Amino acid sequence: MSGVRVFDHPLIQHKLTILRDARTGHKEFRELVEEIAMLMAFEATSDLPLRTIEVATPVGIARGAMLAGEELAIVPILRAGLAMEAGILRLMPTAAVGHVGIYRDPETLQPHTYYCKLPPDVGARRVLIVDPMLATGGSAVESIGLLKQRGARAIRLMVLIAAPEGIRRVQEHHPDVEIYAAAVDERLNDHGYIIPGLGDAGDRLYGTR
Ligand code: PRP
Ligand code: URA
Repeated sequence: MSGVRVFDHPLIQHKLTILRDARTGHKEFRELVEEIAMLMAFEATSDLPLRTIEVATPVGIARGAMLAGEELAIVPILRAGLAMEAGILRLMPTAAVGHVGIYRDPETLQPHTYYCKLPPDVGARRVLIVDPMLATGGSAVESIGLLKQRGARAIRLMVLIAAPEGIRRVQEHHPDVEIYAAAVDERLNDHGYIIPGLGDAGDRLYGTR
């Protein structure tokens, strides 16, 4: 689907398939979400600018490269995005983290915001919003809107599984936001669940159903 970068690295696809399996329990589910998020973050940051520096090794001078200082902010959508945050922080432990709390009303499928705490300099950072599921797109559109209200400009959205409906909605409201996904699935069912998807990400992460 156009406008979405699908990360189809074999390790990501292998882990995603185990994640989808209804027999996978909470502990393994959480670990897999963290691992996939880490692998995806590796791909999503491949264009970070570098500056060259020299370092003294024990036996000589090596020309090396370090990140040029464009600061990152990771913004998980609560609650399922928390497991992705944990994986990405293992890769980039100094990244700033903001949190947006949004739940989807099970009847109306409308997003409801209950929490928002962002780094004060979010406007100067490259922002990566993370959530395992992009279904109707309501939660993602709402969170991107909140971030823009607070000055964020360079925003990317990273999800594990996206539905075509959610991708279209984000692109309609926020065409400037690049979307990264590990998979784009077929469709939504009548209850707004992604088919085949993986079920309810929050419940499977935390054992709440
Ligand atoms: C899930 C998921 C997304 C949202 C996607 O969260 O983690 O945030 O649904 O659906 P949408 O694209 O139709 O908005 P949920 O609302 O179940 O909240 P939870 O993480 O607190 O369980
Ligand atoms: N939220 C989920 O956790 N799963 C879906 O399939 C849709 C929304």
